[in-house]
Amino acid sequence: MRLVVFGAGYVGLVSGTGLSDLGHEVLVFDIDPDKIAKLSDGRVPIYEPGLGDLIHRNQRCGRLQFASAISAPFDAADAYFIAVGTPPDAAGAADLSAVMAAADMIAKVASKQAIVVVKSTVPVGTCDAVQARLASARVPLEVVSNPEFLKEGDAVNDFFKPDRVVVGARSDEARQMLRDLYAPLQLSGERLVVTDPRSSELIKYASNTMLAVRISFMNELSRLCHATGADIHSVRLGVGTDSRIGKKFLYAGPGYGGSCFPKDVQALSALGREHGVPMRIAEAAHGANEEQALFLGQLVDKALEGVMGKKIALWGLAFKPETDDIRESPAVKLTKALLDKGASVSCHDPEAGPNFAKLFGAKVTVKDRDYDALDGAHALVLLTEWRSYRAPNFTEIKRRLVPTASGGAPLLVDARNIWRPSDVLRAGLRYQGIGVATNRVADRPSQR
Ligand SMILES: NC(=O)c1ccc[n+]([C@@H]2O[C@H](COP(=O)([O-])OP(=O)(O)OC[C@H]3O[C@@H](n4cnc5c(N)ncnc54)[C@H](O)[C@@H]3O)[C@@H](O)[C@H]2O)c1
Repeated sequence: MRLVVFGAGYVGLVSGTGLSDLGHEVLVFDIDPDKIAKLSDGRVPIYEPGLGDLIHRNQRCGRLQFASAISAPFDAADAYFIAVGTPPDAAGAADLSAVMAAADMIAKVASKQAIVVVKSTVPVGTCDAVQARLASARVPLEVVSNPEFLKEGDAVNDFFKPDRVVVGARSDEARQMLRDLYAPLQLSGERLVVTDPRSSELIKYASNTMLAVRISFMNELSRLCHATGADIHSVRLGVGTDSRIGKKFLYAGPGYGGSCFPKDVQALSALGREHGVPMRIAEAAHGANEEQALFLGQLVDKALEGVMGKKIALWGLAFKPETDDIRESPAVKLTKALLDKGASVSCHDPEAGPNFAKLFGAKVTVKDRDYDALDGAHALVLLTEWRSYRAPNFTEIKRRLVPTASGGAPLLVDARNIWRPSDVLRAGLRYQGIGVATNRVADRPSQR
């Protein structure tokens, strides 16, 4: 098939490239000329494991192209995918201006009957609104909902081995076309969930909110652990071994971030408000997440007896490992809080350093080498569980950090509970985890 993908971001690039690897002729279109210039030149503007090689392979054989205009033969595409951003507006609802701009362009350029596949995460009813927007097209165009579930950091794998592919279509023809398109991904068993567009749109928000709720609940429990002397590690094991509950997404930490959970949870709440059905659980998950970010700042502040004038080192700036994405990352929130309180921040991340430096400018120091971020700092806060941080040299960390003003040992805040507290204490450092009773840390194993 001949396909056009609108948006060369995390979703558009991965799905466009993946579709070309399945043998389709794909044009990825973006309004950002810098991105297109880089991609056309073989440079990949984001960090996503395995994506670069896949782009180059398909570019070389001419199946994958990038452009900031749509011309022949792509005016006669079989399908147009919309994978543009849907960021939150001031009220937390999804801003659909990029989706509608893409729809307008499709209406203008399409010269052959086609389907329009909405991959962006959009509120219920958006596909119908896009369908209405396409009324001015010269040819019949049918809108299909096909939300994306890829995980940044493992997105290529997710594209080729999805847990499920959700398709919301009104006509048999459109349903069949999506079945054909995704057939190569179904060889090891049918994973297609076929429904109507409205249910499909809601499935995406419901899935992300369900995961966010699990994280927020565990984070709330971690704060209760601090208050009561219970240990979140044991609580997680005890709860997660119930097969009805399962073990995933039960890790306490600095709060969820990224470009999806925070905005999608808020967008579901906004959708509920719009329809007079309060989404109380989504609202609570969001509130608990905001509190967790504040809690982490307070934890550092309290352990250092105030951060004013102190230097704090951060390891891990991306919202999760294996991505360079810092949107809504706990590191961004903590850095803002620390700077507001008069601390200085020195940091490292294997991939997200340049994005962080771009966001904060001269207000923070971003180091290329992890240990260099520690020199002269009073505390190290681990925020993202990159593999390279999992087994650090605690003696070297101790050598680089400085004691707090009151003579206390330098502090390690393990916001992902990945280190064995006994290793940290043995090196002469103080340990602070999330939801970990400080009087019991010596014999507590790491969370992962
Ligand atoms: N990032 C994820 O992990 C993820 C996962 C699942 C779903 N989603 C959803 O997919 C959508 C895209 O997310 P993303 O992270 O890829 O966004 P992104 O911000 O990385 O990329 C969006 C791209 O769209 C481009 N764009 C904006 N307007 C355009 C237009 N009119 N025509 C063509 N291109 C245009 C932008 O220049 C940008 O390159 C969002 O709705 C998001 O919620 C994201």
